[in-house]
Amino acid sequence: MSVITNRPKGTQDVLPSEVYKWQTVERCAAETAECFGFKEMRFPTFENTALFKRSVGDTTDVVQKEMYSVAAKSPANGKDPDDFTLRPEGTAGAARAAIENGLLKEALPQKVYYMISCFRHEKPQAGRLREFHQFGAEMYGSADASADAEVISLAKSLLDRLGLENVELFINSIGCPKCRAEYHKALKEYFSERKDELCPTCLERLERNPMRILDCKSPICQGIAKGAPVILDFLCEECSAHFEKLKTLLDDMGIKFSVDPKIVRGLDYYTKTVFEFITNDIGAQGTVCGGGRYDGLIEQLGGDPLPALGFAMGLERIIMTMENAGVEFVPARKCDLYIASMGEAAQRKAAVLTNILRAEGFYVEADTMGRGIKPQMKYANKIGATFTIVLGDNELEAGKAKLKNMETGEQVDISLGDSFIDEFSNNLIAEMFKAEEG
Ligand code: HAM
Repeated sequence: MSVITNRPKGTQDVLPSEVYKWQTVERCAAETAECFGFKEMRFPTFENTALFKRSVGDTTDVVQKEMYSVAAKSPANGKDPDDFTLRPEGTAGAARAAIENGLLKEALPQKVYYMISCFRHEKPQAGRLREFHQFGAEMYGSADASADAEVISLAKSLLDRLGLENVELFINSIGCPKCRAEYHKALKEYFSERKDELCPTCLERLERNPMRILDCKSPICQGIAKGAPVILDFLCEECSAHFEKLKTLLDDMGIKFSVDPKIVRGLDYYTKTVFEFITNDIGAQGTVCGGGRYDGLIEQLGGDPLPALGFAMGLERIIMTMENAGVEFVPARKCDLYIASMGEAAQRKAAVLTNILRAEGFYVEADTMGRGIKPQMKYANKIGATFTIVLGDNELEAGKAKLKNMETGEQVDISLGDSFIDEFSNNLIAEMFKAEEG
């Protein structure tokens, strides 16, 4: 069968048979974040384009090449039409929302997390989509390296709880604007000597923001960048001490890491600490988590100066890594009971019993297709119902029916009267115990 149009390139459908994997990760992420005192925040899928230009930076790949921007229809008053962009990431929107809603005036630190879809017009490949999903966490208010350690520890805890062992942590410090000025000078000198080989975008970056050349995706620029000076050699005393403290704290917590002076991240707002968690198990797009400190961003977006930091994990990449590692997801809930019925009176009774049990939180199904008993039982089998009941005139008259255990075939009597819920729940509990022991 063909639909009128297929899903856009670089997007994914998550079918009911697969959604339990997403739920496993999302629930675990929310629970872990809450253990660290992070509260969920929700904010719009699109923002004014200016927000991303100002925060992510207008010399980054994300802003220069990957944004999905849309102009709303021109308003009647003749003003320029609004210019919106689908969020390519969450930090900017979260910071905007925190400033706009006065969150940063409340007790500090403020800690938020989010589960969002993001949009980047990249070349799709395994682990790289145009619509992807992030679990992100942001912490506002602390300049101390202990906050960096806490944020990294949150990411690490989540990866551990998801059973991901083969993910390595790499950290770096990219300093503050003070040390960055010296570094930029050194980079400019280095890249100017090979100016002729740089791609046109990087040529422009050479003047405006030479650090961005370091994460250009062009293989030629990447090759040249390999020999470039590294920021760690240019850190000022304060940034150096901050980085040393972070390393000590990570050591204290037993969190293994390597220092990779080449990590600069692809977004402009970072200062001091930057980090990535990388796996070799899912191909070229192995960065499952990226983050760092962004002490200048809140002020840049119009808030009072306030240090901040955070990270985001790509949920598609996390799920791919879990699948490849063969770790277990929490399975989808199984149907507790299927009530099959023959005839109209039995169908009405089935609907009543189904309703009663559902109100108590049981997962119960009954026929809504007007099918005969045989296809009803086939369906019950297909959905993996733990128990079934068949209702017909005899059962209605007797006020009781057979409760059948679908795995063992064992049948017991069950009253259809007042004790129905208790009798069913006792049987289900007994079955759950048996399954746990087995
Ligand atoms: P990012 O490194 O651009 O950082 O993205 C974070 C993570 O999102 C990546 O490590 C990757 O797992 C996933 N990701 C990025 N692009 C794609 C894509 N096209 N397809 C699939 N997954 C992708 C940020 O977005 C920052 N806002 C993180 C942050 C939060 N820094 C501080 N706070």
